[in-house]
Amino acid sequence: MTTLSTATILLPEPLGGTLVNRVRRPGTDFDPAELQGLPRLELSDRSFADLEMLATGAYSPLTGFLGEADYLSVIERMRLADGTPWSIPITLPVSRAEAERYAGCVVLTRGGEAVGTLEVQERFEARQSLEAREVYRTEDTAHPGVAALYAQGDVNLAGPVTLFEVPRGNFPRYHRTPSEVRAVIEARGWRTTVAFQTRNPIHRAHEYLHKVTLELVDGLLLHPLVGQTKGDDVPAATRVKAYEVLLEHYYPKERTLLSVYPAAMRYAGPREAILHALSRRNYGVTHFIVGRDHAGVGQYYGTYDAQEIFSAYTPEELGIRILKFEHTFYCRTCGQLVSPRTCPHGSEHHLVLSGTKVREKLRAGERLPAEFTRPEVAEVLREAYAAQD
Ligand code: ADX
Repeated sequence: MTTLSTATILLPEPLGGTLVNRVRRPGTDFDPAELQGLPRLELSDRSFADLEMLATGAYSPLTGFLGEADYLSVIERMRLADGTPWSIPITLPVSRAEAERYAGCVVLTRGGEAVGTLEVQERFEARQSLEAREVYRTEDTAHPGVAALYAQGDVNLAGPVTLFEVPRGNFPRYHRTPSEVRAVIEARGWRTTVAFQTRNPIHRAHEYLHKVTLELVDGLLLHPLVGQTKGDDVPAATRVKAYEVLLEHYYPKERTLLSVYPAAMRYAGPREAILHALSRRNYGVTHFIVGRDHAGVGQYYGTYDAQEIFSAYTPEELGIRILKFEHTFYCRTCGQLVSPRTCPHGSEHHLVLSGTKVREKLRAGERLPAEFTRPEVAEVLREAYAAQD
C-alpha cells in the first residue's frame, strides 16, 4: 500500500469560494424563545433535503432558496444572476392560498417539529411550464421530475435558511456533510478524488468505471443519492446494502469512501448532471464521473446529452474535472467489461440489460447474470424483492 503525504493536499475551493454553513443550534447559537409565535411551514421530503443541502454547504454558494432574478437566470442561462454556473433552481414552493401567511422569519418544520428557519425576502410566481421546458426539456407529466414540479405550489418563497441539526437519516454511519467528507479526504491524503453519483443498484459496469478511474486518481467517493426517488427505483436501503457487500469483497478499503448524498432525485438528465458535479466539488472532490444517460429517465434525453452540456462552461468555472464514459457492458467474446471504444465485436456478443429489464427479472424472482451483477449483489437484490411479496 502506498502512503500518501498530507503535506501537499489542497482540496478544490467550494463554488463561490466559501463553504456555506447555515447550521444554527437552538440554545447554543440562538435563544429558541425567539421562534415563538412565528408562522410555521411544514416541509415536503424534497424541500427538507434541499434545506440540508443548502445549510451544510452542499449547494454553496447558495445560502437559501432562490429569489426571482436567480430563478429566471438559472432557468434561462444556466447561471445565477451574478454569472456563477448553476443549472437547477432550488426553490421553496407553497400554494397561492398559503403564500400570504409567510413573511419575515418563518419556522420550517418536519412532522410538526421545528428544524430550521427561512428569512422570507421574496415571494414570486413560479413559471412552471418555462421551468419544465428549459430544465427538464419536456412538459410531459409522465416525466417524474415534471410531474413533481406541476404538483407543487405556484408561489416560491425565497431567502436565506438555517438548519438546527444535520439530520443523519437512515444511514448515520455514512451520512457526512461536505466539511466532514473534506476532512476524510484530507486525513487520507488523497490529492485527487473522483465522486460517483448513483441511484441504481451497483452493477459491473459501475464497478468498471470506478476501477478504471482508480487507476488514475487517489480516492473514490461512492456517493449514492438517498433522497426521494421515483416509486419503482430500488430503495436506498437495498442499494446501500449492495455497496456494503461489494466494498467488503472487491474494493481497496483505504482508497474508497462510501458516503450518502441526501438530495432528492429530479431526473433532469443533463441539467442535473451539472448540479451533481458542482455539488460534489463542494464536497471536496476533484473529478466527477458522467457516463451514459446520467440522471436520465425514459427516453427524454440523448445517451450523451449529460456529457455535452458541460461545454456551456469553461473548466475554470466548473472547478471539477468531468470524466466522461461511453456505454459500458460485458462482451462474451472479450470476456470482460468493454465499451464501443474498446470492443470490436457486434451487439450479439454483448450482454446489455436495461434498468427496466433488471427490475422485471427481480420481480420474477430470477437471478441476475454474474456478468451483469456480482453474485453477492444479486443476492441482496433478490432478498429485497422477495421480502416485498
Ligand atoms: S443516475 O441517475 O445516478 O445517473 P445510475 O446510478 O444508473 O443513475 O448511474 C450512475 C452513473 O453511472 C451515471 O454517471 C451514469 O451515467 C453511469 N452509468 C450507469 N450505467 C452505465 C453504463 N452501463 N455505462 C456507462 N455509464 C454508466
